[in-house]
Amino acid sequence: MSDGSSFSITTPIFYVNDVPHIGHAYTEVAADVLARWHRQRGDDTWLLTGTDEHGQKILRTASANDVTPKEWADRLVTDAWKPLLDTVDIANDDFIRTTDERHERGVTAFLQKLYDDGFIYAGEFEGFYCVGCEEYKQPSDLVAGTGAYEGQQVCAIHSIPVEVLAERNYFFRMSDFEQRLLDLYESNPEFIQPESVRNEIVSFVKQGLRDLSISRSSFDWGIQIPWDHDHVLYVWFDALLNYVTALGYGSDDDEAFQRLWPSVHIVGKDIARFHAVIWPAMLMAAGLPVPKRVFGHGWLLVGGEKMSKSKLTGIAPSEITDTFGSDAFRYYFLRAITFGQDGNFSWEDISARYQAELANGFGNLASRIVAMIGRYFDGVVPAAGAPTDADAAIDALAKSVTERADAAVGDFAPHDAIATVWELVDALNGYITEQEPWALAKDDAKRERLATVLVTALRGLGTVAVLVSPVMPKATQKLWASIGAGGSIAEQRIDRAWEWQGAAQVVPLESGLFPRIEQQPEQGAA
Ligand code: MSP
Repeated sequence: MSDGSSFSITTPIFYVNDVPHIGHAYTEVAADVLARWHRQRGDDTWLLTGTDEHGQKILRTASANDVTPKEWADRLVTDAWKPLLDTVDIANDDFIRTTDERHERGVTAFLQKLYDDGFIYAGEFEGFYCVGCEEYKQPSDLVAGTGAYEGQQVCAIHSIPVEVLAERNYFFRMSDFEQRLLDLYESNPEFIQPESVRNEIVSFVKQGLRDLSISRSSFDWGIQIPWDHDHVLYVWFDALLNYVTALGYGSDDDEAFQRLWPSVHIVGKDIARFHAVIWPAMLMAAGLPVPKRVFGHGWLLVGGEKMSKSKLTGIAPSEITDTFGSDAFRYYFLRAITFGQDGNFSWEDISARYQAELANGFGNLASRIVAMIGRYFDGVVPAAGAPTDADAAIDALAKSVTERADAAVGDFAPHDAIATVWELVDALNGYITEQEPWALAKDDAKRERLATVLVTALRGLGTVAVLVSPVMPKATQKLWASIGAGGSIAEQRIDRAWEWQGAAQVVPLESGLFPRIEQQPEQGAA
């Protein structure tokens, strides 16, 4: 298995019953920023995402649309889920679908192993099931329905009636793993993050675990149980395995699995329990290492409520990127929301941050420095003279910001990393205001001082560009070309961003990094 320098990270795989909204895009972007950062610090990095295509929810949506579930899934993957990756600029290394042959093969091998080793048995299941959650429910998870569902028990999350099941099913001996899971949480306190999610899961497991029903026989849209073809596998058991089947588990070529597993899982806090209870229990039963970490991020709220399509608060990612661009989308959600906490989305907030932090803060800084080197030195980067305290302070800050931002990303705090980089953006803007290069330029005797100020500012700008390149790949690549540094900014070592010494020549920025937004989007949703 992998050593410390590999960084394999996953998003949840998304249900294809509907099209993506900004909550889904948020998960994708967070995982992508972490992956790009690690790639740029030289770690053997792998970002996996994909789609969850089995289960009753998708079967019903397909039937309602008069197509087979596979046709429905193909359509949604092609028209909605893969395009999302372009919309928000995700650099994933793989995309797995649970209908992929490689996945079905790995799942079958895994199930057969658990069955042969005595972790699966046949039994009678009686209880409740919510198709919205694709989850078995306890009576305590239900509430009394209202309106059309008056008199019925409904799921507290989806407000729709639960199904009452009485079936012969196969069960996974999850209860056998209760103590081992508690030991895992205790001996590896960082296994589940943040603390709030960890506490909830520890107390859930302490209440006692039941065996888990893992098969259904009343419909057939799923992976067949290998020893009993009348049953299909429970959709969550199927879905969780994507993380290892994508790496080749259960195939002849499991080199990627050996190299990259265990991975870090980024998930919404609503599905952290599946990842931090069922999934490690499954892996323990199979004798495989548990994930490195399960990080449960918060929800995007719109008007104070969890945003969702079913509650008609869903906002398509393109509604935002069409106006602000993918870089601003990525920046806004990672900067404005503390990773691990809920965050409210509003058009006013994104517009205000775009203007203040991107256009006026970073964009203006870049334009001014490039324009002044153009104006005063014909674009040829001059040699710097002896540094003053103010210059040395900028260099020292660039180093300290690099180190602190890198540490913050290592701690899964991208919001802190970005805020730290903005210390340097603000300091550079302040430095230029104080040093007044336009005044120095009026006096030929101060030519060397002018050169030193502009080169110091340029070096700082290069450091900022490298540090925010995982967050804003497009704008920073454009800036990188303009400040004369060749090649791809994505190839720059991020943990040494402060070492960049400037280039020989700068090229004017054709347009600002963050153009003025002429038209405000429809503001009906927030
Ligand atoms: N298919 C399962 C995951 C299986 S992983 C082995 C699933 N899919 S989902 O499409 O419903 O949700 C995918 C992710 O989107 C989850 O992490 C969920 O938390 C996240 N979000 C859905 N709505 C969200 C918000 N409003 N805000 C933030 N994230 C949200 O669950």
